[in-house]
Amino acid sequence: MKRIAVLTSGGDCSGMNATLRAVVRAGLVSGLEVIGIQKGYQGLIDRLYETMDTRSVSNILQRGGTILQSARCKEMLTPAGLNLACENLKGMGIEGLVVIGGDGSLTGGYAIHQQGVPVIGIPASIDNDIAFTDVSLGVDTALNNIIRAIDNLKDTASSHDRAFVVEVMGRNCGYLTVAANIATGSEYSLIPEEQFDLDAICTDLRRRYQEGRSNSIILVAEGAGKAEDIANQIKDRIGFETRVIVLGHYQRGGSPSSFDRLLGARLGQAAVANLIAGNGGNMVGLQGANIETTSLLEVTTAGIRPINPKLLTLASQLLI
Ligand code: F6P
Repeated sequence: MKRIAVLTSGGDCSGMNATLRAVVRAGLVSGLEVIGIQKGYQGLIDRLYETMDTRSVSNILQRGGTILQSARCKEMLTPAGLNLACENLKGMGIEGLVVIGGDGSLTGGYAIHQQGVPVIGIPASIDNDIAFTDVSLGVDTALNNIIRAIDNLKDTASSHDRAFVVEVMGRNCGYLTVAANIATGSEYSLIPEEQFDLDAICTDLRRRYQEGRSNSIILVAEGAGKAEDIANQIKDRIGFETRVIVLGHYQRGGSPSSFDRLLGARLGQAAVANLIAGNGGNMVGLQGANIETTSLLEVTTAGIRPINPKLLTLASQLLI
């Protein structure tokens, strides 16, 4: 193997640069030429690429986002787009590809692998919805961002006896919401994985206020509903004025945590080692203390990674 490529795809997350640096340096140290594809699969289709040397990844590991840039590429979902991407890879003499991204990106990676270019996937998505890894890249930094925001909101909530409804990212997955609930001592979390009873929450909110606990944080995963709607429904039911915060893309940026830097370094190095070993068609992920491989077929057909039910129990037990 002489030449490999790497791309970052889908929603960016903190730790992508640290991972990229590890891929490039592990490749170079093994005598490989490493090509960086810009703008994810779109760049593969449009032939946007650069040769990476050790300096091209200097001083990036502490930066959020991705220096290669990312995109959500609809063309890649079509047979013509996939074919063009594969032809371009083969035309560039690429013998292995590292895809850093979420579930859709890993599905694209598996499709490329099936067309004869070995692919290793690296799970990267703040949603933490990818199966066969305990945690995806970017989750820890996003969670820290959310915690910082909620800690600040709690200061002002307690000063004004107010309730806040806070919308947290997570298209189909409430992991960030539940983890933030536990880590900030917020009162409620509404997530797509669980039915919620807004009447019961309203009754409880009123009870808390009557007991003198006059500020509350209600977390809503975006997949469970819009914070604005929840706030209106609370107002309609019990007359409480709440303030609404949508944390949005704030959650995705910022310097990666120590956890995401280390995870990125380990996953990046493991991806290259697996390509060299001829183990294309796999995702590298964190399982327990180790980096393990799972076939991309299994990963991309497993569905959304379920939230550990013990976390859900813990969140509800700590709300007294
Ligand atoms: O998949 C990561 C994620 O941040 C989701 O939580 C969110 O629903 C989505 O991406 C937002 O996508 P975009 O950046 O394309 O608006």
